[in-house]
Amino acid sequence: MKITIDTLCQAKAEGRKFAAISCYDYTSAKLAAAGGVEVLFVGDSVAQLMLGFDSTLPATMDFMAVITSAVQRAAPDNLIVADLPYESFQQGTRRLIKDSQRFIQECKADIVKIEANDIGVKTIKEIVNSGIDVMPHLGIRPQTLKYKARGTTADDAAELIELADEMCLAGAKMLLLEGTAREAAKLITQRLSIPVISCGSGPDCDGQVLVLPDILNLSEGHKPKFSKSFADIGKASIEAIALYAEQVRQGSFPDDAHSYHIKTGEYEKLEKFVK
Ligand code: KIV
Repeated sequence: MKITIDTLCQAKAEGRKFAAISCYDYTSAKLAAAGGVEVLFVGDSVAQLMLGFDSTLPATMDFMAVITSAVQRAAPDNLIVADLPYESFQQGTRRLIKDSQRFIQECKADIVKIEANDIGVKTIKEIVNSGIDVMPHLGIRPQTLKYKARGTTADDAAELIELADEMCLAGAKMLLLEGTAREAAKLITQRLSIPVISCGSGPDCDGQVLVLPDILNLSEGHKPKFSKSFADIGKASIEAIALYAEQVRQGSFPDDAHSYHIKTGEYEKLEKFVK
């Protein structure tokens, strides 16, 4: 059955937690859906984890649209969250609304995520008023290139709480809190009626999200404090690739069982042709 925002509101009301994964392609989304997560994000972290850039900024709208459609095709019954890339912010609210509509209509996403600050409340309202479900992304906002944890002082936590309230009043349907002190995230989750997803904001939010390459330990280099690998598929992948390369070099792959054959009687005809 299709997971909707209402499904997650119901889960929140009943105190049931839900899981989300950020992934970027058809095959990964199939795996995530088969693993039983409720929500699939198609995050602009793709720029770092799949394209090798050092920030999320180079992810373009056209690229995000292609991969969002791929994830939706793989997992139509999951709630699909499309991520408005940095590029969409560069030409004002009209462009943000146009790109949000593209995500919903062309890519069949269910909700758009938007990295937002206090100036963004008006923008959120305008996108909501255009009929689109919106998930503001508060706390650490990677598009600002600032990665310091938020809500670690009373003042900063109070600012975030106020902003979360404003986003809710502006019509946000869900909230993503990244890299926020657990205590502040708990207060925000408790005071809002909408589902709040934590990305490194502690266990007290309604749902959790991690990026798939971290869950599977596919990503190299520094990982944030909050991320956790649940299997070493990176190591298993390297071993499988090394075995393949070895068998190719030895001539043991491909064998006859992995080869096509000419039809009976056709080889004799072919021999006459090539004489
Ligand atoms: O870009 C991303 O993948 C995200 C998720 C971690 C929520 O923002």
